Amino acid sequence: MNAPARNAAPSAAAAIDALYAQHIAELHRRTEQALARAGFDHLVVPSGSLHYQVFDDRDYPYAVNPQFKAWVPLTRNPGSWLVATPGQKPKLIYLQPFDYWHVVPQAPNGWWVEHFDVIVIRKPEEALAHLPKDAARCAILGEPQSALGDFVPNNPQPVIDYLEYHRAFKTPYEVAMMREATRIGVRAHRAAEAAFRAGASEFDIHLAYCAAARQDCNELPYGNIVALNQNGAVLHYMELGREAPAQSRSFLIDAGASHHGYACDITRTYAADRAGEFQALIDAVDAAQRAMCDQVRVGTDYKRIHLDAHLALAGILKEFGVLKISPEAAVENGVSGVFFPHGIGHGIGLQVHEVAGFAASDRGGRIDKPAGHPYLRLTRVLEPGMAVTIEPGLYFVDLLLDGLRQGEHAGSVDWSRIEQFRPFGGIRIEDDVVCTEAAPINLTRDEFAAV
Ligand code: GLY
Ligand code: MN
Ligand code: MN
Repeated sequence: MNAPARNAAPSAAAAIDALYAQHIAELHRRTEQALARAGFDHLVVPSGSLHYQVFDDRDYPYAVNPQFKAWVPLTRNPGSWLVATPGQKPKLIYLQPFDYWHVVPQAPNGWWVEHFDVIVIRKPEEALAHLPKDAARCAILGEPQSALGDFVPNNPQPVIDYLEYHRAFKTPYEVAMMREATRIGVRAHRAAEAAFRAGASEFDIHLAYCAAARQDCNELPYGNIVALNQNGAVLHYMELGREAPAQSRSFLIDAGASHHGYACDITRTYAADRAGEFQALIDAVDAAQRAMCDQVRVGTDYKRIHLDAHLALAGILKEFGVLKISPEAAVENGVSGVFFPHGIGHGIGLQVHEVAGFAASDRGGRIDKPAGHPYLRLTRVLEPGMAVTIEPGLYFVDLLLDGLRQGEHAGSVDWSRIEQFRPFGGIRIEDDVVCTEAAPINLTRDEFAAV
């Protein structure tokens, strides 16, 4: 075994510190612009508060305000506040309550702390003394229940439009965080595949995933989709069957991980029989998906990738004898949408489905989805720094197939071929890809290649 490199940890820490400094500088630039547009002096962002279940004293899992975690890698600190004022070091008002019921947040520590004036408070209302003098001069971004005194979230639209539009462009620090989330996710995907091949139930595969990621539902960026056999045809299958089926033919897993508030979103599909026809279909989708990832380039309209994907997937259906008409005709008459009934992907970053997917500009406006494609979540033209998923799929969904069978295009497919593929459910392959000035960076494939 190789000896660990000397001083590896300090140099990694220095690298992250430099990236973070650059990230904070970029957020300052964006904030200055956003405030100028709306005529405010300060950006004030509450981290959020706990929400309680109706007629109960139980709280829901806390979800941090994304506008807050954009600045600080803190995801478990309700009752804290961020204040950014152009020309000043940002202020973090950090709630560390006296509480013997729960583990209280640690005193702020780590590479990010020096970038803030940190004020530790012990009670939520103590924040008032440290917020700017005049709440009327503040753009306050948050949920209504974060209101404290005069600091009632006003969520000025020009400020939100500007910040959310630019959030699509990841700083190198953010890409590094997403890379780490991906490293965790891919390690867990490997464990899940091994559990599938060992004949585990969906629930046990899910547990194997969580164990390998060292994350559970409180940290995972979305609920795991772990689907054996025909369950792969349910797009958001979350049932986690407790019993293993008599025979596991196929396995679709859509599962992510998070790191310092950033997400990865990864889907893989496996066949038990690596020499069978379903594996060949997976391989065909895989090759097409790689070509789609290569389209993540400056100036490409993301809508184009989605529409091209319909043609590519219809071509595969034709090649495998499912379609009897031309791929072009199947796209034209909507039959491709029976097998690929969702969007090609979405922006990703602080949120697994990143905001502002339809934003026409940083001053608002909307770019509509193409007619007949209601589930596309991103319609923007790609620019450097944008991080998107590319997630084509082919599914044999009974509900949609019934509609096809009863409609005027029933003769455009070979129903006996569909019957052969139905027991396998479906295929989705999903990578997270960063657009750059040069070739795209495929965070997911890079990591699968490394482990
Ligand atoms: N995991 C949800 C999605 O792929 O969008
Ligand atoms: Mn996705
Ligand atoms: Mn996914």
